[in-house]
Parts: sequence; C-alpha cells; structure tokens
Amino acid sequence: MNIGGTLIAGAATQPLRGEITVPGDKSISHRSIMLAALADGITEIHGFLPGQDNLATARIFECMGVAIQWLNAEKTSLQVHGVGLHGLQEPMMVLDAGNAGTCVRLLSGILAGQSFHSVLVGDESLHRRPMLRVVELLRKAGACIDGREQGAYLPLAIRGQSLHGMTHVMRVASAQVKSCLLLAGLYAKGETRVREPRPTRDHTERMLPLFGQAVWKDGHDIVLQPIGSLQAPALPIHIPADPSSAVFFAVAGALVDGSSLNLGTVGINPRRDGWRRVLEAMQANIEVSACPNVGEEPVAEIKISGSVLHGITVAATDVPDAIDEFPALFVAAALAEGDFVLVGAEELRVKESDRIASMVAALRAAGADIEEHPDGVHIRGCARLAGGVAIDAHGDHRIAMAMAVAAQCADAPITVYNAAAIATSFPDFVAQAQAVGMNIKWQET
Ligand code: S3P
Repeated sequence: MNIGGTLIAGAATQPLRGEITVPGDKSISHRSIMLAALADGITEIHGFLPGQDNLATARIFECMGVAIQWLNAEKTSLQVHGVGLHGLQEPMMVLDAGNAGTCVRLLSGILAGQSFHSVLVGDESLHRRPMLRVVELLRKAGACIDGREQGAYLPLAIRGQSLHGMTHVMRVASAQVKSCLLLAGLYAKGETRVREPRPTRDHTERMLPLFGQAVWKDGHDIVLQPIGSLQAPALPIHIPADPSSAVFFAVAGALVDGSSLNLGTVGINPRRDGWRRVLEAMQANIEVSACPNVGEEPVAEIKISGSVLHGITVAATDVPDAIDEFPALFVAAALAEGDFVLVGAEELRVKESDRIASMVAALRAAGADIEEHPDGVHIRGCARLAGGVAIDAHGDHRIAMAMAVAAQCADAPITVYNAAAIATSFPDFVAQAQAVGMNIKWQET
C-alpha cells in the first residue's frame, strides 16, 4: 500500500523537555458527532479531534443532511445541528469513511435502522478489515446488509429496515461492535442487550445518557431500552485528550535519558488506561494528578520522566484496555531490560495494519530482538537499537509514530515510509515532537 509521507527520525541529541498538547480523543470525537447528529437540537462540542478519521465522520453526516458549523479554524470546536433520530436524509453518494474503522462500524448500526439505502466505503486498508463481526449480529436484529464476501468486507450496502431488540452475545471483545449494536438499538422495537466477552471502552454508554437515553448494566449485559429520541444536551460536550496519542510521548519521555515531559490533562478512563498500568509495571516514572472529570470521562494530569524500563508479562485484563497502545509499548519493551511477553492480543492483526506483523518487521529491521506469535510477541530488550534502516508503516498511523519514537534511541536514523496516516489521529505529531526535542522531520518531496 502506498499512501506516501516519509519520516526521517534519528537519535535524540538532548533530553526531551516541555509540554505536549495532546489532541482530542478519537473514539469520543466520533461518538460526539454521531449522537449530536441524531439528537433534536444543537449540540456544541469542544476538544474535538480534527484528524482525518473524525472529519470523515463529520462529512458523512453532512452528506445525510446534518449541518455542522465549525467554531474555530483548527476545527476543534463545532456546533452540530441535529436532525433527530429519524431525520437523516438518504445519501446520494457512497459514504466514504476513509481509514476509520470506528466510523464505519458504528455507522453501520445507525444506517441499519434508517428508512433508506446507503453504501459504505473506505480506503484500501479499511476494505481489508473484518466487517462480519457487526454485520452478522445486525442481521440477527433484522438488518439487511450485503457486502463483499457475503458482508465480510466493504463496500457494505445497507437497506434500512425496522429492527427488533434482542440479546447479542459478542464473540470478540470490541467496543466498536458493542457500540454499533447499542446505536442500532436506538431504532429497535424493544430492549437491546449486549454481552461482551470482556469489558471494553465504554464511551458510548457514558455519552448516551447526556442525550437523555439511559444505558445500564445488568450483570454482564449492557442494556438499552430505546425511548425514541435523543435530546441535544443543554451544556457543551467537552472531549478529553486522547491517551492513545499521549502514549507516544510517554514512551519517548521514559526512554530518552534525562527527559521530563508534561502530557497535560489526558483521559484515564479505566478501559483506556492499560498503557499506564503496563508502563508502571515496567517501572516507568509516571506522575499522575487527578483532575475533575471532563464531562462523563475521568482525566488526570500526567508527567513522565526518563528511567530504566523492565520487561513484563502483560496481564490478560490489560490487553483490551491497551489495545491501541501496543505499537508504542513494543518500542518501550524493545529498549527495556529483560523479557516482555504479550499473549491473547490477536485483535492486533486486524487493526489499520496487522500490528503484530508490522511492528515485528519494523523493530527487527531496526535491530530489536522480537519474536512473532499468532496472538502476541516476545521481546528481549536491549540498550540501543542499531537503526540505519528504512521501514514501512503500511499506512498505519500508530506504526509510524511508534517507529519515530524508537528512532530516538537508535545509533543511526530510521526512515519511515507510508507515514502520512499520522494525520488520521495526531495531525501535528511531528511539530510537537520537534518542539520537545525529538529528532524527527518529514522528508521533503
Ligand atoms: C475503538 C475500539 C477499538 C479500538 C479502535 C477504537 C472505538 O477497536 O482499537 O481504535 O472507538 O470503539 P475494536 O472495537 O475493534 O477493539
């Protein structure tokens, strides 16, 4: 896959110092647009992530008749003029989610319950990602969805139907699947129950009540009894900073000798906080000061300073809670003392790239001792990487940023191809990295 954008990163020549402005949470930004679009009234949102993924979600709702008014040039504040649960218009064109798995999977739940036809597409990477996990459960609730290989892959064609409530038993621990089913549940007749194999991020459950729709837990089930409408909240929605973006600077600050980075106020929702538990177990020097919640989400000010890291075996319970952070954590492990073992993380193989294969190839080329397993890795840490290689980020934002961090501790520079996807989640990553002293730049074309 060739998406372009070449990063050149080399060893940090000084300790990393300063403050990072971590952008808004990607998962929460998607949900904020979706619920606001389906509500009656105008919702104001602040702290929105203006990455390509979230802008794709915004554009899709504009295609269905939702007016979005940006309140600043950076596109971090906006007003969404909701059209109500049944106010979306049939799109004239296919809906393009770009690289955004969260957009496409959550949206399929919403579109399944409309009274119109729609077609969802994305980029090359999204067209390879599994969709049957949402399609087969939505079909059980009455949805009419077709796609490549019987609905396993995009493009998906969705003929909106009346849906019925039911108990869904999920096979994979996936917040996207859970959220898709809850959003479809807004349109279903009767109660929707979702049973997860393991708890996953709960941003949808936290945000729906802000729009007047209760969601509750009953044992292991998450339950939604649709009330038939969503109401725009009276107060603006504030989106906290994304821990999945903060982690790259947490790892860089931990690895580069003498560093001290302030990551600012970052989301610490326990279902997103696995990265911190893993780094703390690796003996990273992390200072956490609790702050008042941002909306329904817990946050804290986080500071990190350089220390010697130690390999660990990742606890099974931390795997879903750190699922997006493993590329960065593998870099920490490659430069830690001792062995780092991760199992039960086969979901990494179906992200924006196969993140086990991508990281094994990239880190091994850079000189790390890393063994690939079907569901994880075994890494034997070393003091420095050799570097002096060009690696492929496979159009995966998190691989590109992780390898840029790895290069800070390499003897020779690392070139990262196909890194342009950084813009999906952290548009000014390179500028902020340079500002705190990281040795990194875009190759001029
Ligand atoms: C997300 C859920 C996770 C995560 C993704 C965002 C979400 O995916 O990897 O980046 O916003 O619900 P899965 O649901 O596939 O685990």
